[in-house]
Amino acid sequence: MKVLHVSAECYPAAKAGGLGDVAGALPKYLNQAGIDTAVIMPKYRQKWILQQPWEHVYSGMVRMAGVQVPFYIHRNIGEDLGFELLSVDVPGLFDREGIYVDAQTSYGYADEIERYLVFQQAVLQFVQQLPGFVDVLHCHDHHTGLIPFMVKHCPEYRNLAHIPTVFTIHNGMYHGAFSWSKAYLLPWYDANTSGLLEWGNTINPLACGIKCCWQLTTVSPGYLMELLQSANGLEWLIRNEMGKATGIINGIDTDVWNPESDPLISFRMNEDINEFKRANKYILMQRFNVRQDLPLITFIGRLVNEKGADLIPDAIAKFLYDGGRASFVVLGTGDPALKNTFLKMKDQFVSFFDTSIEYNEALSHQLYAGSDYLMMPSRVEPCGLNQLYAFRYGTIPIVRTTGGLADTVIDVSSGNGTGLRFDDFSMDALVGGFKRAALLYERKELLWELREKIIHLDYSWAKSAQKYVDIYNKITLKN
Ligand code: GLC
Repeated sequence: MKVLHVSAECYPAAKAGGLGDVAGALPKYLNQAGIDTAVIMPKYRQKWILQQPWEHVYSGMVRMAGVQVPFYIHRNIGEDLGFELLSVDVPGLFDREGIYVDAQTSYGYADEIERYLVFQQAVLQFVQQLPGFVDVLHCHDHHTGLIPFMVKHCPEYRNLAHIPTVFTIHNGMYHGAFSWSKAYLLPWYDANTSGLLEWGNTINPLACGIKCCWQLTTVSPGYLMELLQSANGLEWLIRNEMGKATGIINGIDTDVWNPESDPLISFRMNEDINEFKRANKYILMQRFNVRQDLPLITFIGRLVNEKGADLIPDAIAKFLYDGGRASFVVLGTGDPALKNTFLKMKDQFVSFFDTSIEYNEALSHQLYAGSDYLMMPSRVEPCGLNQLYAFRYGTIPIVRTTGGLADTVIDVSSGNGTGLRFDDFSMDALVGGFKRAALLYERKELLWELREKIIHLDYSWAKSAQKYVDIYNKITLKN
C-alpha cells in the first residue's frame, strides 16, 4: 500500500511547529510498519531544501483565474529520511524563505489562498500521471483541506475520486477561510456541491476537509472531545462527523530526540541523569544570563496567545516580586508585541530572566537538556510535542490541563505523576505552577525520582503509527 502525505511542513525540510515534526516522523515509522509512505510539500527557499540535491520528476500547469501557473515536482535524492520526500516548486508563490509569514515583517502572505490552491492541484495533477501510485491521500490541516473535495467534485480531478482520503487536524484554530468573492480562483466544480465548501458564509478549507474526507483524525483523543465543545465555530460539524473521527496521540521521533546520541547537545546522557542535567545546564549559563543555582524554567515555542505566551510575562513578574526563586528562559518568535515585552524583561529581571527571540532547533535541544522545567501554559494544545521531548531529556513539564497535555501529563499529586498541572487559564494558576516547581526543586529525592521516571516513558511513534495503519487498512478495503 502506498500512502502520500500532503503537508505544508515537513522536518527537516521546513518546520514552523509540531506539524513539521509529525510530517517528518510519522512517515518514517509507517514505512517501518510496512506501509510505503511518501511526503509531498511546497518547495520553500529554506536552507535544508537549498542544500539538498533534487531530481526533477514532473512539470505541469495549474489554471487559476484564466492564467496558467507552471509548477515542477522534485524528488529528494540527498539525505535518507526514511521516506520519499517530494516537493512542489511554484516559482513566484513558494520560493520564499518564510513558510506562512514573511520572515522580515512577521506578517502572513497576502496570496495565501492562491498558494495553497496551486499546491493542492499540483499534487493532484502529479498523482494523476502515475496511476496506481497512491492508495491513500493523507492530508494535514487546512492547507490541504480542499483535496478531499477536489477529487470528488472537480471534473479535472474526478478520476482520483476512488482514492480514500484521511484528513488530520493538527490545529483547529486556523481554517484558511476566504470570501466567496474569491471563488473564481477555484478549479471548476459541480455547483450542486458548493455547500461542501462552505461554512459561515465563507469558503472554509478546514470545514471542507472535515466534511469530504473518508476518515478524520485529530492528534489526541482529548482534543477530539474538546473540539465538540470549542472548535472556533465548527462544533456542530465535528459532532456530525464523529462517526468517522478518531483521536490518535502523536509520537516523537526517538532517533532525533535521543539524549544518548543527540549531536546538538554538548553532554550526552549516560547512567547519571542528574549529571547530564547539571552539565547541560552549566553550558546554557554561558549563553543565558540567569542564575544557575535556581531551578531553570523554560518556554520553547511560538510566541502566540494559543500557546499562552501572553500569560508568561506577568506571571514571571508576579512570581519574582512575591519572592519566588527561579530562573526563566524563553526561546521563540511570533507576536511582535510579545517579542518586545520579553526583550524588555531581560533588563528588568537581570540574572533571573533571559530570552532568545528566534526559531532555533539546535538551541531548543540544548534547552530541553539543560532545563529543570518546561512550561506549557497553552490555551489550546491539540497534542503538544514539547512535553514529550521534555520527558525524554528529564525535564519536568508544567502544563495547563488541556487537549494532548491532559492526555500525556499526570500531576505528581496523584502518586504516579509525570509533571505539574494546573487547570485554569490564568496568570495566578501559572504562578502556582512556578511555586510548586520551586518547592519540588528543594526536595531533591523526589525531583531525582521524577526525572528517572519520565526519561523512561515511551512516547515513540511505533504505537500510534499502528493506529494509522489500522485506518488505512479499513478504508482501502472499502474500495
Ligand atoms: C500543532 C498543534 C500541536 C500538535 C502539532 C502536531 O502544532 O498546535 O499541539 O502537537 O500540531 O500535531
